[in-house]
Parts: sequence; C-alpha cells; structure tokens
Amino acid sequence: MSDASSSYYFLDEARAGKAGLPSFVHEGTATGDVRAARADFPALHQRVNGHPLAWFDNGATTQKPRVVLEAMTRFYERDNSNVHRGAHTLAARATDAYEDARATVARLLGASSPQEIVFVRGTTEGVNLLANTLGRSRVGAGDEIVLTTLEHHANIVPWQLLAQSVGARLRPVPVDDSGQVQLDAYAALLTERTKIVALSHVSNALGTVLPVDSMIAMAKARGISVVVDGAQAVAHLPVDVTALGADFYVFSGHKIFGPTGIGAVYGRRDLLAELPPWQGGGSMIRDVTFEHTTFSGPPARFEAGTPSIGDAVGLGAALRYVLALGLPAIAAREDRLARLLTDVLSDIPRVRLIGTAAHKVAVASFVVEGMRTDDIGRVLDEHGIAVRSGHHCAQPALRRFGVESSVRASLAFYNTEDEIHRLGAVLRRMMRTDDVKHWGATVKKGDLSSSA
Ligand code: ALA
Repeated sequence: MSDASSSYYFLDEARAGKAGLPSFVHEGTATGDVRAARADFPALHQRVNGHPLAWFDNGATTQKPRVVLEAMTRFYERDNSNVHRGAHTLAARATDAYEDARATVARLLGASSPQEIVFVRGTTEGVNLLANTLGRSRVGAGDEIVLTTLEHHANIVPWQLLAQSVGARLRPVPVDDSGQVQLDAYAALLTERTKIVALSHVSNALGTVLPVDSMIAMAKARGISVVVDGAQAVAHLPVDVTALGADFYVFSGHKIFGPTGIGAVYGRRDLLAELPPWQGGGSMIRDVTFEHTTFSGPPARFEAGTPSIGDAVGLGAALRYVLALGLPAIAAREDRLARLLTDVLSDIPRVRLIGTAAHKVAVASFVVEGMRTDDIGRVLDEHGIAVRSGHHCAQPALRRFGVESSVRASLAFYNTEDEIHRLGAVLRRMMRTDDVKHWGATVKKGDLSSSA
C-alpha cells in the first residue's frame, strides 16, 4: 500500500509503473494490440457449463478490467469519504478522485470542460434528467419530440411521459429494411413544432451506427436541441461531442468497462447553465431558507445528494484504460470481428439477420426460422456462449422487422475469432438436430413468440 499522504492515484500508479494502463502497455506506449488486452479481464477467463466463457452480451453490460476493480478497492480501502464537504484529508482525496473522474469523462467525449459533465446513475437517469429539465422548459402543448424507430426504451419512455404530461407528441423517424434511419423522412419531420431531437448514436438492438453528424446539423439548422444517447457508442467508436455539435450526450459507465450505477450527461456549458434543477437536496444549493433556495451552477446543480463516488472512481479508471488502448484501434478490431460475425451467421441456413446497415458496430441480431429465441439463448449458454435473447428493451425497433424478439450477439474488442466460430458451430449443430421437441420450436416463421 502506498504512502497515504500522496496526492491521489497518479503518484501510486506512477510508482507501480503502469498508471492503470492495459497490461501490454509498457512505459506508457500503447502498441495498439488490443487483442492482448483480453488478459486484463478476469471474468473472461472462466468456464461456464464446462466451456470457456464467450461473452457476447456486451450490449447489456461489459466485463471489467483488473485496473477498474483495483481502483475501486483502493478507493474504499484508503480514500473513502464523502465529497465536496469536510476539511479532512480523506475528504480532499475523495473529492480529487471524483473530480478527476469527471475530467476523464470530459476527455473521452471531447468536451471543452469538466464542468460540462454531470454524473448520473446511467443513460436512463441521464435521459430522465434531460426530459425533466430541458424537456419541461422547452416542450409544450402541440409541440413534437423527434426520435427514431431504433431507440431503446430509455430514450423513448422519459420523452413519452413528458409528452403526455404537457400535451406534446413523439414523432419517430422510420428506418429502411437495412435498419438505417431514412434521412429524407427525418428532414420532413423537422418542423416549427419540433422542440427536441433525441436519437441513439448506435442502436442497441441492431448495431446500426446512425448518421448523427448529419442529423445534428439538420436539427441545429432549425435551432432544435439535440440529445444523443451514446450508451452503445462510447465503448466502440471515438466520440467528439464538440466536433459533432451535440447539445447533450449521455452514456452509461458499465457499458464501457466501468461499474454499474454511474454514467454521465454531457451538456454544452451555456445550455446546462440555462436548465433548472430536477432533484433537490444537498450539494446542489448555494443557500437554503424555509422560504427560498438558491442553486449551485452546473454540474453540481444536477447532482443532489451523495453521489456514487466509488463508482465514479471506477469509471475514471475504465476510461483511462480505454483511452490508453485507443478507440480507433478498438474500432478497427471490432470492425474485423463484425465482418467475420456477419459472414459466419449469413452462411447458416434459416438464420435471418435483422439489421444489415452498411455502418454498424459488432452487433448481430438474428432469428432462426422455427426456433424460439430463448431456446437458442439457452442452448448457447449450455456451450458457454452468453448472448441476449428477447426484445433488448427496444420493442419498436424489433417490431419494425416483424419480430417480438431476437438473439443478439454484441461484441467488444476482447472477443475473439475463435468465439465467433464457436457460435457458428453450435448454431449449425442446432440446425442438424432439427427436433421440434428438443428445441421447443415455435409454430411461426421468424419467431414471434418469446420476449425477455
Ligand atoms: N440496454 C441494454 C441492452 O441493450 C440493457 O441490453
């Protein structure tokens, strides 16, 4: 254990010689060999049902590198304190750690200042924050919120609750048969009634990468505020909110190798400054009397109560790790995996891929004619392969393709070619053992029966 008087982690990490970097990075020089970083993830090195685990459920949550687990343990062993209050040493260390994590989020997203980053529990809470602040100040009776058919429920329901309470309505942008949004239809939906555009950067159910740069530019040309849900993007693509021109950008830490219970909202400084508070309590105030309260500026105004400090520390460690690996290198590796995944699945009879857009991350959503998606998920699990089967919290997106559920293999950079071939081999074996009783096949083509 380090000298307890040292200023936050960097000194410890410098002494350790690694500064929380991926295992293969020596002397601070990333090799770009992201394959080797798989060794850093303890959970990936286990057997499940007698087989090596193949973790293909990264869209639901990612596994954590050892540096994240160690950073959180170190925080609780040594620095645990509340933040932004208390004159003692541990309070100062915890506050430094928490604010350092905020600065690292700003670096990941290309924000111009850490003050543009608000910590929240995750994407869902982030969208709820925006619906209750931006939404309530901008949207009224007769107004419209434009989103896309691809949104997951976290980027639909908060806007729907807002719309219902103020008499506004949601206008979803249709997608084509490949699962890409139709830009001409989007353009037609942007009118003087549109007050907010809320769109995914990447679809969780299909993996489509939306043309958010064009979509933001089109909305901004009309003075419409844009909220981007980056939950499925940040672990897979370089994101630069300043270059994108996004007003708000939201993501969850656990989908980028950090802990659950922490995520962030980026908001352009001048826009955050205009928003009212949403949750009241300690830490977000300047002065309180029984008659009146004045509020802190952003980001504190939006962080009522004790935040999830240990989780923020874990998130900071995860993001430093990702930044050291390099998102361009991660994206390039995942692109190769995505092509192999598509090739392997396309070659299996009766498999129907859902979502075939030209620009996708490494997500394959599919159904198999005559088989229930939950049976496929169960059989794959028997072989150590973890996929999600169900509606992926994106029912409108799947219904667009005539199904209520699909099997989804969602990859991260640490997945391997061998794992993809194993997935293909088990599916092929299932096709050969075409026994309705054994597999519990549905009566309908395209699997209309099951949901998560
Ligand atoms: N939204 C998460 C998923 O896509 C839970 O699985």
